[in-house]
Amino acid sequence: MNNAGSEGQPANLPEPIIDDIPEAVRDKPVTESRSLLKPQMLLIGGLGGFVAIAVVTGLFLSRPQAEAPVVSSPDSSATSSPIAGTLTPGAENILGHLVYEEAPASELEPITNDGSLQLRKAAAQQYKQMSADARRAGVILVPISGFRTVAQQQHLFFDIKAQRGQDTSKRAEVSAPPGYSEHHTGYAIDIGDGRSPATNLSPRFEQTAAFNWLEKNAARYSFELSFPEGNPQGISYEPWHWRFVGDRHSLETFYKAKNLTPEAELENSSTP
Ligand code: DAL
Ligand code: ZN
Repeated sequence: MNNAGSEGQPANLPEPIIDDIPEAVRDKPVTESRSLLKPQMLLIGGLGGFVAIAVVTGLFLSRPQAEAPVVSSPDSSATSSPIAGTLTPGAENILGHLVYEEAPASELEPITNDGSLQLRKAAAQQYKQMSADARRAGVILVPISGFRTVAQQQHLFFDIKAQRGQDTSKRAEVSAPPGYSEHHTGYAIDIGDGRSPATNLSPRFEQTAAFNWLEKNAARYSFELSFPEGNPQGISYEPWHWRFVGDRHSLETFYKAKNLTPEAELENSSTP
């Protein structure tokens, strides 16, 4: 088996700045929907006003949240409807990131010729097939990051946080703490567009041919977007970060013990 290291460390991590997006891009607060309240408030005074308030309240509650996610109360009437950025009580998380075990080295398989990037075997095989099919359609998928050890995530979270002088909550909006990254599972992969490297790990990746192709086709290979806009974990939008959910173990890893509400799961699954 082609594993890079007995302790599960890839031979050489591509660069130490994975997830290292310029702050101006990655940390942009999401506030635009707050302004929706003002014009609608003018309608107060009649039945039409009450209807408008109800509609605006619904929009407000479903807006994407850049802040740390809220854990909903069991008594909250809001638990009966999907709310972006909300986990159900009991979900083991830190600032919205869920706990994950590191995949054993024996389960990993390279997805690059130099062996520097790896995924779990089933995910690796599907990714390679997906990449080959995309290439035939004229689209170049570039793997940027796959499996990561907890030690590697320790560097990404804490060292870069220190370099930038970020507080913990701010760092957690764009990076998972060690032990809480989907990349530990060996099922998650960051993908770029070979024709548009400037969009790597940027929200602008969603404007590329690669993202467009993935949106239409990734589900055929059992990959789904982990963090769409307004995701129930309250993590920043990551159009480049996809996860494999094509067998029982991967499905259980991401859905079984996470206590996501059925509505939240539905919300996730409705995104390619
Ligand atoms: N980049 C996402 C948050 C993760 O590592 O799980
Ligand atoms: Zn990622």
